[in-house]
Amino acid sequence: MCGIVGYVGKKNAAPFLLEGLSALEYRGYDSAGMYVSGAGALKRAGKVAELIACVPDDFEGKSGIAHTRWATHGAPTELNAHPHTDASKTVWLVHNGIIENHSEIRKDLEAKGVVFASQTDSEALAQLIGHLYTEDMLLEDAVRAALAQVQGTYGVAVASTREPEKVVVARMGSPLMLGVGEDGIYVASDATPILPYTRKAVYLDDGEMAIITDQGYVITDADEAHVDKPVTSLEWSAEAAQKKGYEHFMLKEIMEVGEVIENTLRGRLDTANATAILGGFQDTDIHGYLKHAKRIIITGCGSAYYAGLIGKTMIEELAGIPVEVEIASELRYRRPTADPKDTVLIAVSQSGETADTLEAIRAAKRQGILTLGIVNVVGSTVARETDAGVYNHAGPEIGVASTKAFISQVLVFALVALHLARERGLSKQEGSDFIKELETLPEKARAILTRTKAIEAVAKKYAHTRDFLYLGRKFQCPIAFEGALKLKEISYIHAEGYGAGEMKHGPLALIDTDFPSLVLAPRDSMYEKTASNIEEIRARSGKVIALTTDGNDDITRLADDVLYVPETHEALLPVLTTIPLQLFAYYIAKERDCPIDKPRNLAKSVTVE
Ligand code: AGP
Repeated sequence: MCGIVGYVGKKNAAPFLLEGLSALEYRGYDSAGMYVSGAGALKRAGKVAELIACVPDDFEGKSGIAHTRWATHGAPTELNAHPHTDASKTVWLVHNGIIENHSEIRKDLEAKGVVFASQTDSEALAQLIGHLYTEDMLLEDAVRAALAQVQGTYGVAVASTREPEKVVVARMGSPLMLGVGEDGIYVASDATPILPYTRKAVYLDDGEMAIITDQGYVITDADEAHVDKPVTSLEWSAEAAQKKGYEHFMLKEIMEVGEVIENTLRGRLDTANATAILGGFQDTDIHGYLKHAKRIIITGCGSAYYAGLIGKTMIEELAGIPVEVEIASELRYRRPTADPKDTVLIAVSQSGETADTLEAIRAAKRQGILTLGIVNVVGSTVARETDAGVYNHAGPEIGVASTKAFISQVLVFALVALHLARERGLSKQEGSDFIKELETLPEKARAILTRTKAIEAVAKKYAHTRDFLYLGRKFQCPIAFEGALKLKEISYIHAEGYGAGEMKHGPLALIDTDFPSLVLAPRDSMYEKTASNIEEIRARSGKVIALTTDGNDDITRLADDVLYVPETHEALLPVLTTIPLQLFAYYIAKERDCPIDKPRNLAKSVTVE
């Protein structure tokens, strides 16, 4: 996600702003920029180093704001980089979060003659503040009036040429904090940029605004009442701050899953029509293709491929469309057999740069097949080379092992399945019921995150196992594959995922007291069959860890250890059952003292074949 820094004080703001942006690079971004009072604004697509290289020596001022952008709306270009300004170039703004009603704000202002410069949702907020900021108004009042019209999330820092020694910041759903220094007040979206200057921190809460001047700061709440916030002492090292105090990025990213589910679903649930709104699919041609598609081919690599396997079962079960899922490194070399008239390819890729997935897309395009992307990195090659697609909005994923991005990919498939199903006979009531379950997922995911101690205890019991078998059926079969991948890639334990029904066809020969199985056995349509698989393993002295749904006490007589997740719609259970498997792999790798964020031999994005 994006990064924000700001400063008001006795020193030149520019050096802190640039050092602060460098400190925020770990969060992942694609452009950067800053505004300094009295000096103006500078923005660059690409790395912070490119911004630093273009800053003149005399670029000075006692206050300023700066930003690293992780593109969500609009390509990663200099024009779309922050800060954004209004038509009169009076108000300057940097923003984290998503302004959901930015289109309506833009349309309303354009109707009043306001000319926009970029494609971003953030500029709509800058223009709205500028539009409301009359000569007799204070900046904070104009910001407050504009935010009252905004739907969505924001961490925002605003400056004005009219009130040069002032920065106004406000928070709703995207973190912001102040650093109280000897020579001024620092602003940042996390502690990392502040630590070299002060350890005195003030955290803003949702609905709060801070008005920062060279006299200090004042904080008000949603009712404009002054609030006295405690000044806390920052104990973290800079590295710990990047991970928000977690030991590894992987754990931080697993713990973000509630927010990631919210961001993936944000603005995409059409409750009135009981369907999903997928902006990238709304184009009439795309929509027409999808409506009449007789065959969908899903492709990807690794976890993205496994997400595609779940997407297959979701789309077939809800929409009744035949779906095949192909490993991209295989599909790209196969003889084309699909009829372009009624086939759609969906490519899944977190990075959007995986070489095999790109080549599979290109092969499909050569056959005239419509290609859609499910991608996390905005403006990545997959995003640019597919005909349309859906962004995950999962935020940057730093750990090599895919966790939050995988869950977001599965969720996007649930939205695609709902969208297609409602056009092919799924009733409005069924659509509404599905949406209601989707809306419970953030809370249910957060409930699982309160169970880490139980998961860690089981992980420690098995941390020195040589082999592992992961088993599941139907929606849980790909989760068995994904869970095995997580374990093998960060702990180096050999782990295999299998359809539980396959046990008698070979894998049962592996079972003995030293070969444990992790069985995905939620109370779903496959439970009875899967429970019998557990019994056949136990009959051969195999140890079993069962992952099931809350309230299923029956399984305690069957398994050696049990992990629980809340119940939900069978098609959505993979979103929840994945989380304990990610934590299980994490705690085992931690017990084995593995380099969890950067496993041996692996890269975060496999851009070579
Ligand atoms: C998953 O944990 C792995 N890091 C890997 O399998 C990954 O999913 C695969 O390389 C695909 O990457 P992509 O989603 O960026 O295309």
